Amino acid sequence: MSRPEANADRRNASDLSALWMPFTPNRATKAAPTRLVAAEGAYYTGEDGRKKFDGVSGLWCSGAGHNNPRIREAVTRQLETLDFAPSFLFGHPGAFDLAARLAAAAPGDLDHVFFTNSGSEATDTAMKIALAYHQARGDGQRTMLVGRERAFHGVGFGGISAGGMVANRRAFQNLLPRVAHLRHTYHPELNRFQIGEHEHGAELADDLQRLCDLHGGETIAAVIVEPMAGSTGILPPPRGYLKRLREICDRHGILLIFDEVITGFGRLGHAFAAERFGVLPDMICFAKGVSNGVVPLGGVMIREGIHNAIMKGPDWAIELFHGYTYSGHPLAMAAGMATQDCYELDGLYARARALEPVFAKHLMALRDHPGVTDIRAIGLAGAIDLQPDPAAPSTRARSTFLRAFHEQDLVIRYTADTLVFAPPLISTEEEIAELFHKVGKLLGGATG
Ligand SMILES: Cc1ncc(COP(=O)(O)O)c(C=O)c1O
Repeated sequence: MSRPEANADRRNASDLSALWMPFTPNRATKAAPTRLVAAEGAYYTGEDGRKKFDGVSGLWCSGAGHNNPRIREAVTRQLETLDFAPSFLFGHPGAFDLAARLAAAAPGDLDHVFFTNSGSEATDTAMKIALAYHQARGDGQRTMLVGRERAFHGVGFGGISAGGMVANRRAFQNLLPRVAHLRHTYHPELNRFQIGEHEHGAELADDLQRLCDLHGGETIAAVIVEPMAGSTGILPPPRGYLKRLREICDRHGILLIFDEVITGFGRLGHAFAAERFGVLPDMICFAKGVSNGVVPLGGVMIREGIHNAIMKGPDWAIELFHGYTYSGHPLAMAAGMATQDCYELDGLYARARALEPVFAKHLMALRDHPGVTDIRAIGLAGAIDLQPDPAAPSTRARSTFLRAFHEQDLVIRYTADTLVFAPPLISTEEEIAELFHKVGKLLGGATG
């Protein structure tokens, strides 16, 4: 049994051991912490007291900048008025208002919104709605879900089953049955150092037709893809790929789900990547940028026909047995509404579109630095692939990430040996130039 005084000691000491950090090398990070203690605009403050440019919008969330007064004030007001309302059976006006606003911002007849608290819950929700929709129409044989290699759809069992990141699946194994995968769309031999959509690879969408031929298109419920794969290192879609996927889905009655947890709300210069690529999916998963990361919030946009097919039976009966205690939480709704104000009133999508060529120019200027094997840029998202050290994969990117933090006062990300950038939509041209100037210094042998 532990001694009470020992526990008190632990509470007072700066003991880092109790917290199990997510998606983090815990031991190395606790040995040399990189903690953030404050944030304002496009900058964090580290524990060393230094301001650090936020080169990844927190975790793809904070496009409208940190401590944004509009959002802060809205959340504070909400807290003083209605701190919580049960989302089952009751609801509150804020949830209806934000749903209506998002529906108005979404393309086509994506007119209905189901709120979750995260992207992982959003993708699981979308896949469940797809299955429920087919059941409701008497087409319950459609139970197969199709994902894609190198996809990240969060960490729920649905998300890791449809996702295609081996490290996220390997330790768990007991995944959903009846899930198939398309090949990923990254072809460095054809598309190296390209800006925007990749030139080659639209035909990879035909993998879906092959799965239909193999399993029977009439058994597939839905296909879920990120319009641009984010977490595996910014993989823009090949030009025409998403349209082709849409056509094959239509031919076989398969629902198309876009996971826009990263691409939603301005990252690619529009409310949704669906608009940028001119493809209307049946559902869109969102999170992160919807509330600027201030209060956890995610959700799914759903097309009219899918929603209506499930709204049947006696009107006193629950139509969909699904939901979360915190679906449509009042603070998240307030944050979401104020964030939409920022995007609209401050013209942040247009700003992202204007910054896109500046971002791509400065990022691509790093192509001749030593060890750089590819660079990709689309919207305000970009990645630099580094030649891995075969004896210690990911250490090249990790050491650059650590040096970026300590030596150059930059907050960036890495995945495997890829450095990832996604600055806030409020960044200035000068800040973006400086970000990549500093990254160039870290890469060494500067030529650009
Ligand atoms: C495309 C995509 N889907 C889902 C998720 C999971 O979101 P969350 O971490 O909020 O569960 C992420 C997170 O980065 C993501 O990038």
